[in-house]
Amino acid sequence: MKKIYLSAIVFILLTFIFYINSDLSQEKSKYQYVGVEKCASSCHNSKKIGSQYNVWKSSLHSKAFTILSSKKAKLYAKNANVKENPLRSKECLKCHVTGGELDASYFTATYKKEEGVTCEACHRRKFITKTFLPKEKDCLKCHSDSVHTIREFNFKDKCSKIAHPKPKEKPQEK
Ligand code: HEC
Ligand code: HEC
Ligand code: HEC
Repeated sequence: MKKIYLSAIVFILLTFIFYINSDLSQEKSKYQYVGVEKCASSCHNSKKIGSQYNVWKSSLHSKAFTILSSKKAKLYAKNANVKENPLRSKECLKCHVTGGELDASYFTATYKKEEGVTCEACHRRKFITKTFLPKEKDCLKCHSDSVHTIREFNFKDKCSKIAHPKPKEKPQEK
């Protein structure tokens, strides 16, 4: 009888420890944004791999934050009844900055909102070591009307405008 009592206690204890543990590991596995410089310095600024950083830098995504200081931004904000400065309003930041709707616990010290829409806005999720490639629905999170109208979005066309592929394994020399 005593034995059953004891194993019940041990069982409850183990369940409790397991519960706490899984809760903590979940907290640990929360994705934290590192910012674009990390991607550039870790390898995505080399020709061999496709200079993705340079391509991104010359795209409008790298200016998505600074555009919020323009006259047009003030006008959009006014029309949307947003009273705050667009540079600080989550109503604008959620599409104009990577992780713009999140609180500080989601960012490492290297993250900068000034970088705008960065690599991690599109490649955040990872499947073991393979980089996640975005689908149309990942773009539509931002490329759909909300507080202002946007241009029509054709996935293929828009992808070609921002294309930054890895070079083919064996480039053919002519
Ligand atoms: C606005 C979204 C977006 C941003 C920002 C973005 N990418 Fe991409 N990236 C894509 C899309 C779309 C593809 C092509 C996916 C496909 O081929 O299916 C791609 C492809 C790639 C590939 C090629 C993968 C392969 O297997 O050929 C690499 C590498 C890459 N991106 C790295 C980066 C880096 C580094 C940055 C930041 C400097 C960045 N991307 C910023 C959307 C984005
Ligand atoms: C986090 C929000 C966000 C995501 C996700 C996103 N974009 Fe954008 N994109 C923007 C913003 C904001 C601008 C405008 C920036 C500016 O004008 O300074 C923009 C501009 C563009 C432009 C240039 C303007 C235009 O409409 O022709 C292209 C092309 C584009 N994005 C393609 C894509 C594609 C393709 C994807 C998905 C693979 C994607 N974007 C995902 C926010 C996003
Ligand atoms: C649902 C996502 C989303 C939200 C929210 C959003 N924007 Fe945009 N914004 C975009 C996209 C995408 C573009 C790219 C332009 C296009 O494709 O038409 C853009 C472009 C712009 C431009 C560039 C000028 C232009 O018309 O191309 C300005 C300025 C701008 N937004 C200001 C704002 C302001 C100010 C707010 C907040 C009041 C805001 N945006 C909220 C997605 C968004």
